[in-house]
Amino acid sequence: MSTEALWYLARGSGVVSLILFTVVVALGIGTRSGRPFAGMNRLVVASVHRSAALLALVFLVTHVVTLLFDPYAQLSLINVLLPFGSGYRPFWVGLGTLALDLALAVTVTSLLRDRIGQRAWRAVHWLAYAMWPIALVHGIGSGTDRGTAWLLAIDAVCVLAVAAVAVSTHPMFTQRNRTTTTSVPTPVLTSIGREQR
Ligand code: HEM
Repeated sequence: MSTEALWYLARGSGVVSLILFTVVVALGIGTRSGRPFAGMNRLVVASVHRSAALLALVFLVTHVVTLLFDPYAQLSLINVLLPFGSGYRPFWVGLGTLALDLALAVTVTSLLRDRIGQRAWRAVHWLAYAMWPIALVHGIGSGTDRGTAWLLAIDAVCVLAVAAVAVSTHPMFTQRNRTTTTSVPTPVLTSIGREQR
């Protein structure tokens, strides 16, 4: 593969990874109340959340590995794991490294969730809220395409999507919805999964 093709792949996979992490965060926020979200029940949301996270990681690994072969960025394996040490745009690229470290922590603890317990898992999982904006800012500041209208538009859609889900599923908002619809009986799931009224 030519270095130009690798360069396109690095940028493309970075953008796809960011979009997928946006979906992951939006689904995570959407399901925090335990209620159905976007027409999917909680278990389906959790499953899509997990699959999207794994796919986002695949694109993230592609992004990083291709950049290791990029003669312009000249990244080393250390730059990929330890933030703010790269010769190329150290601050902006360092944010990408930080996001990667946080993504790894969230992923590893999720895979070990049964062993480490719910409390520790949840404490680390909060880091996802920091990881996503850090990755977003990294993308805005690091890339060849920074400042281009299409990349800024993608970033804006990502921010709006997460903000819309956060607001529409906020307890304050859903609480108000519930009090205005108390006359309508709401189906609930029992512990054995059957619908009751
Ligand atoms: C969650 C983690 C990450 C995400 C979502 C992400 C996403 C992005 C995005 C969207 C861009 C802009 C691409 C463009 O301008 O077309 C970018 C650029 C870049 N990223 Fe990442 N990145 C992440 C982690 C990393 C890591 C760990 C490194 C390596 C240390 C890294 C190094 C770079 C470099 C060097 C560029 C500039 C590429 C170029 O324009 O030639 N990124 N990244």
